[in-house]
Amino acid sequence: MSYRVFFEFVQEPFGSDISHKQILVTPSLIGVEERIHYAVRLGAVALITGEIGSGKSTALRYVTGNLHPSEYKIIFVTASAGSILELYRQILSELGIDVGSTSRAVMIRKIKHEVLEFVHGKKMKVVLIIDEASLFQLGVFAELHTLIQFEKDSKPFLPLVLAGQTNLIDNLTYRNSMPLASRVVGKCHLQGVDKKGMEEYITHHLSIAGVNRNIFESAAMTAIHQGSGGLFRKANHLARGSIIVAARKKSAMVTAEHVRLAATEIF
Ligand SMILES: Nc1ncnc2c1ncn2[C@@H]1O[C@H](COP(=O)(O)OP(=O)(O)OP(=O)(O)O)[C@@H](O)[C@H]1O
Ligand SMILES: [Mg+2]
Repeated sequence: MSYRVFFEFVQEPFGSDISHKQILVTPSLIGVEERIHYAVRLGAVALITGEIGSGKSTALRYVTGNLHPSEYKIIFVTASAGSILELYRQILSELGIDVGSTSRAVMIRKIKHEVLEFVHGKKMKVVLIIDEASLFQLGVFAELHTLIQFEKDSKPFLPLVLAGQTNLIDNLTYRNSMPLASRVVGKCHLQGVDKKGMEEYITHHLSIAGVNRNIFESAAMTAIHQGSGGLFRKANHLARGSIIVAARKKSAMVTAEHVRLAATEIF
C-alpha cells in the first residue's frame, strides 16, 4: 500500500508547488512584507537573505501575490550567473518587449521607457524583484543602481527587491557596490524556525495534504526540527521520508526512529 493511501493524503504531502493561499504566514513572512512595502513606498531597495531552503522564494511569491495587479506591475526575474546584459534581457522579456538590440544603452532605454509608461501612463507602481541575486557577478552590483535611477526625475521610480543567500550582503559591501548599497532601506534575514514554528509548519503542510490529525510523535517533530535546522525544504524531505518509512512499517504514527532512518537517505 502506498504511503498516500496508508495515511489518507489527498495530495502529495510537503510539496514544493503550494499555491499562494496555502502559504503559511509566519512572523518572518510579515517582516519581509513590511520591508518590501517600505522600499516600494520610498522607491528604494530591500534585501531578503536567508539560508538555503529557508523560504525566500516563497516569501517573495507571498508578498507579490498580495499586490493587486491593477495597481502594481511586478517584474519578477530569477538571476543567473551572467552579466548585467543577461539581466536586462530577462527584464525586457518579462515586460514582453522584443529585445532585438544587444546594446546596453538601448536595452536600458527600452526598460526605462516602459517603466515610465506604467508609472505615468497607466498610473501603476512598478516593482523589480530579483530572486537568487547572490548569483550575480560583482559587476552587476556596481551597475544596477543606474537602472533604478531616472535622471530627469528626482524621484526614483523603480523600487528593487534583491533576494538571495547570505553572501548577497558581502557583495554589497564592496566599494563599487556602494551606490546600490546606499539605496537599501530594509533588510530581512530568514533563519530556521524554532521548535514551535516547525510544529506549526508540519501541521500546516499535513492539512494542505488533507490530513487534519497529527501523525507525528512529539519526538519525531523534534527530530525533524533538529535534522533540518528549522529550514523548510530540508524539513519537507525529512517529513516526507519519515512518512514513507512509517507507512512501510504499517505504523499509524511517525516516530523519531522513522525520521532517523529517512535522514540516512537525505543530504
Ligand atoms: N511560508 C511557507 N509556507 C509553506 N511552505 C513553505 C513556506 N516557506 C517555504 N515553504 C516550503 O519550503 C520549500 C522551500 O522554500 P523556498 O523555495 O521558498 O526556499 P528558498 O529560501 O527560496 O530556497 P533556495 O535557497 O534554494 O532558493 C518550499 O518549496 C515550500 O514547500
Ligand atoms: Mg529560492
